[in-house]
Amino acid sequence: MALHCGPFEVPPSLELLGPHGADITRLFTRPFLLLHWASELYTARTCMLLLMDLGWEPRLRSGTTLEDLCAGLPAQCRKPLAWMLPFLAIEGLLARVGEGYQLQGDPDLDLTELRRIAEEEVPGHAGNFDLLDGVRSHIQPYFTEGKPGEGLLFDLTLYPLWLAYFRNENLGYFPNNLLTLLALREGLPEGARILELGAGAGSFAQLVAHQGAEEGWAHRIAEYRFTDVALTFLRRAQRELKAAAPGLPLQFQSLDLNRPLGDQGIAPQSLDAIIGINVLHVAQDLERTLVNLRGHLKPGGRLVIGECMKPDLSTPLYLEFFFGFIKSFTEVTLDPRWRPRHGFLTPEAWEAALLHAGFSDLQFVPPPRPLMDRHPGFTVGAIAATV
Ligand SMILES: C[S@@+](CC[C@H](N)C(=O)[O-])C[C@H]1O[C@@H](n2cnc3c(N)ncnc32)[C@H](O)[C@@H]1O
Repeated sequence: MALHCGPFEVPPSLELLGPHGADITRLFTRPFLLLHWASELYTARTCMLLLMDLGWEPRLRSGTTLEDLCAGLPAQCRKPLAWMLPFLAIEGLLARVGEGYQLQGDPDLDLTELRRIAEEEVPGHAGNFDLLDGVRSHIQPYFTEGKPGEGLLFDLTLYPLWLAYFRNENLGYFPNNLLTLLALREGLPEGARILELGAGAGSFAQLVAHQGAEEGWAHRIAEYRFTDVALTFLRRAQRELKAAAPGLPLQFQSLDLNRPLGDQGIAPQSLDAIIGINVLHVAQDLERTLVNLRGHLKPGGRLVIGECMKPDLSTPLYLEFFFGFIKSFTEVTLDPRWRPRHGFLTPEAWEAALLHAGFSDLQFVPPPRPLMDRHPGFTVGAIAATV
């Protein structure tokens, strides 16, 4: 197999990466680029193999539209399939024929060789591929029996793989945390009271503790409220985070970002920063949540979010493979101004939503344009928005 490291064949220039360019450019190592390339290809092949596991090869070979493929399937199948078919076409595994899609010839669907290359160049990341295999093997009842995706994807067998994914040691996930940290540490006041939403496996709190201590700003944090809606994550964090994030003044609480924070014990205007990494896109009503969060920040306080972002709304991102099966991702309130469709948003959509919710002085890390126009594979970013 020819080794081709897309899509960042040439990493973005320092100038394109903005004021934090020196910190960001260190991400673009060969292992990082290779993992990104291999993950995209592995996702595409897994997605194709899943359709074959479902017994749909003959239908794909004779050519099918989304409508035809969905006929007779549970209604929930439409959203993931509406994502998969164009994704597979972009990845060159299906051909577009008129309104439909067709499997032509014998595309390379080998996963073993991809894993071998990745293990050689980026050791220690097999878990990312195991997770994709796990989704493929667990998700079939979503299509065949109409079972909810949440129960299938977050069961006990896949839980350890999710934990392994959300780690700073995972080069595929670390950029989410690094960019958010760069946005957060700027202007963090003395005695800062911070709340993290959807803090999950705790990788961001760990990064704050370690990098904040190394760089001499961790002492400015007086309170770090670690929250999540999922009790499994919360309990694990309570057991393990004191040791894994030394020195961080941690408090733990269950918190749902779809419910008013005031009803969950958070006082108005009491926080200096609210952080959410890859979580705000599940806000059922994004504006309502953003307005609510704003009301709990002190004047001058900041909402700091880390998100996967799309260069444009019609481009499927390989990371969306997982999310299409999850109702909290797909069944959200749409608004033509900032959320014309479910899924990850563009930087401009985030900007519109945050400004509409009353935030100002938006700072993107890195500045998304013209970066994403020239490097469409750059699909992660942080935004700090001030009250
Ligand atoms: C993509 S993960 C991000 C994980 C986390 N940043 C980390 O590094 O481990 C999303 C997290 O959001 C949490 N979550 C999902 N829906 C939520 C909600 N309505 N309110 C609060 N947290 C939620 C999930 O339990 C999960 O831990």
